[in-house]
Formats: sequence, structure tokens, C-alpha cells
Amino acid sequence: MKIAIPAESHPGESRVAASPDTVKAYAKKGLKVAVQSGAGAKAFIGDEAFAAAGAEIVTGPDGFGDADIILTVRRPGEALVKTFKKGALIAGGLEPYGERDGLDSLAKSGATLFAMELMPRITRAQAMDILSSQANLAGYKAVIDAAAHFGRAFPMMMTAAGTVPAAKVFIMGVGVAGLQAIATARRLGAIVSATDVRKATEEQVKSLGAKFVFADVADAATAGGYAKELSAEDKQKQAALIAQHVKTQDVVITTALIPGRPAPVLVTQEMVESMKPGSVIVDLAVERGGNCPLSRADEIVVHHGVSIIGTVNLAGKLAGNASPLFAKNLANFVDLLVAKDGTLKVDFDDEIIKGTLIAKDGALVHPIFKA
Ligand code: NAI
Repeated sequence: MKIAIPAESHPGESRVAASPDTVKAYAKKGLKVAVQSGAGAKAFIGDEAFAAAGAEIVTGPDGFGDADIILTVRRPGEALVKTFKKGALIAGGLEPYGERDGLDSLAKSGATLFAMELMPRITRAQAMDILSSQANLAGYKAVIDAAAHFGRAFPMMMTAAGTVPAAKVFIMGVGVAGLQAIATARRLGAIVSATDVRKATEEQVKSLGAKFVFADVADAATAGGYAKELSAEDKQKQAALIAQHVKTQDVVITTALIPGRPAPVLVTQEMVESMKPGSVIVDLAVERGGNCPLSRADEIVVHHGVSIIGTVNLAGKLAGNASPLFAKNLANFVDLLVAKDGTLKVDFDDEIIKGTLIAKDGALVHPIFKA
């Protein structure tokens, strides 16, 4: 059986769906791996490292025609998919909530598609969860970028020439990215506060030494561990509280997402204008419309002296870490697809397989996406 690792073609994508460690693990199971030449370059993994781990280096997609499983970081384009054999399995970040036409045509190709973004939130699936492994790095990088852009220091410093006050950092959305952002900002010496619409996050925020800011809204946690959209009345309550808090903050990091919906607007233009000049906002939700209506993908917008950073794919900026973690998530998933003797054996009744399977035999089959 053969696994193919194409070079990612999405502009700005630095990650690759395998690492030398995962290639070694596949080889140990008796699986062949073909890696497209240069696929790991932006993640600092050369062809030699892949070859030394046991991969065959192929110059182009021609080498993928006999692959049974194709692993990707982003949704592969139509031209690439045409080079795969009929009925091949594709697993990766297939952006199920992204552009719909592309998803339909990918399904029509006849490939069996597994979207890792739909990984169920169960303990057994944690090691396969690309959203968590990448969001953790994104939360860290958001704070580092904010600190680099902030024209002041984060920690309090008492010097002979006077005292430098600690920066006040507010984290909105306390999922995986938000928790790492709190921890990182605390390590840098900031005074950190955080908010979420899931009440369970209060304890987590406090355990990291930050202050929890909570509008008295109905708990928006769903059974799957995600948040649902607030009612109109609760949105107003939350906005009133946030407006008061945001104007006292130096740095705001927004990470709030609702699966399948545009990101909730949390920091309005009016709130931005209430902040001190020199303040910084990092909007991690920019790709899903943004938690701040002023943020723009891959731009730094300066409004009323406040910088709004909208870098997309923040985890990808740490490709040296993000890529091996992504690859390991995929390798753990591949373990579910392959029997001990190295043959393909997919249990379509498995909760993880069912949760991530979006298309099979030419049609979308996932309940959220099928027509
Ligand atoms: P996410 O990326 O979907 O959203 C980020 C955060 O934004 C969430 O905490 C959400 O509650 C919050 N949010 C949504 N709307 C908001 C609003 N209007 N105002 C303020 N905050 C808002 O969340 P993520 O990182 O995927 O984590 C969600 C939960 O799932 C966490 O408790 C995490 O620990 C858990 N989880 C469990 C896994 C497992 O058991 N396998 C794997 C990954 C996460």
C-alpha cells in the first residue's frame, strides 16, 4: 500500500502532511511513501531527510497515480486530484466549511474524503485533532506578534528612571488558542483577562492566573464542546460589558469561532476607537470573517492609532513545529485506516471515521454537507 504526500500549492502554506518521523512510522508498518520533491522545504524538511526516513521522492504528481492514501494540509485542487487513482482515500485539512463548489467537485472525483476539521471531540480522537495542535501554536504566535508590534513592554519594570507599567492583555474566546494565548501573555508578564460564552472556561482562565470577564449570558456550550451563537439579547449584554473592558486594554487577542457560522463580531469599530493609540488587536478569526469588522486577511490595519493584525494561518508561521504536529495527527488517523498486515481496512462504523468522512463513491455523505 502506498501513501502520497503532495507539495502544498495554496499560497502562503508552509506546512507539509508528513515528517521524517511519520514516514519512518509508515515504513515500519510496511507502507510505501511517495513525497513530492520540495514538499517540506518551507517546513525546513529537505528531500534528503524524507529519503533518509524511507520515502521515495517523486518530481511531480505523476508519482501519485498508484497511491491508496493521499495526505494533505489543505484541500487539493482539481488538477492534482485528477492524478490520483479512482477511489483513493484523501485525508487532511479539506476545509469543509470553505468554498462549496470546490468541495462538490472534489466529492465528484470519486475519492473517499476525510476532513480532519470534523474530528469528533472525544478523548480517543485528541491525538488526531489538527484544529487543536494548530490552534495551540496560533495562540502563542498571536501574543508574540502582538508584543512585537506593541510599542511598549509587556512586563512591569521598576527602574531608577521610573516604573514601566505591565501591559493589559485581553483574550476573547478561551478554546485551545485562547488558553495558550493566556499562558503566553502571562509568561511575558502582562496583566491578563479573558472572556468566553462557555461557563466551563472560567475555571481554566483562573487556573492560568488570569481574570475571567463574563457577561451574564446563557451558557453557550454545546454537547460537542463548541460554542453556539448567542441570542440577540445576550449579544447586547456581552457587547456592553466588552465595551467597558476593551477601552482599558492595551492588547486584545480575539479567537472566537462558531463551527459552520461566520465568526461573531466582538470588537466593533466604536470599541476600537475607544482604545488608546498604540494598542494592538490580533484577530485570529479573520479567515472566518473576523471578530473585529476592521480586520483584513494578511494585513495590519491601523485605525485611530490602533493596529489590527489579521495574519491568516498563524500556526503556519511556525511551520517547524506546526508541520510535524499536523503530520503526527494524520499518522494517528492513518492507523485507523490500515490493518496490522499493512492492508487498507476502514471501519465505516467507527465514530471517528463516521465523523470525518465527507464524501464517498462520488457524493457528499456527511450529514452537515450532503445536499
Ligand atoms: P473554537 O476554536 O471553536 O472557538 C474558540 C473559542 O471561542 C471557544 O472557546 C468558544 O466557546 C469561544 N466563543 C465562541 N463564540 C464566542 C463569543 N461570542 N464570545 C466569546 N467567546 C466565544 O474552540 P476550540 O479551541 O476548538 O475549543 C472548544 C472546546 O473544545 C475547548 O473546551 C477544548 O478544550 C475542547 N476540545 C476538546 C477536544 C477533544 O476532546 N478531543 C479537542 C479540541 C478541543
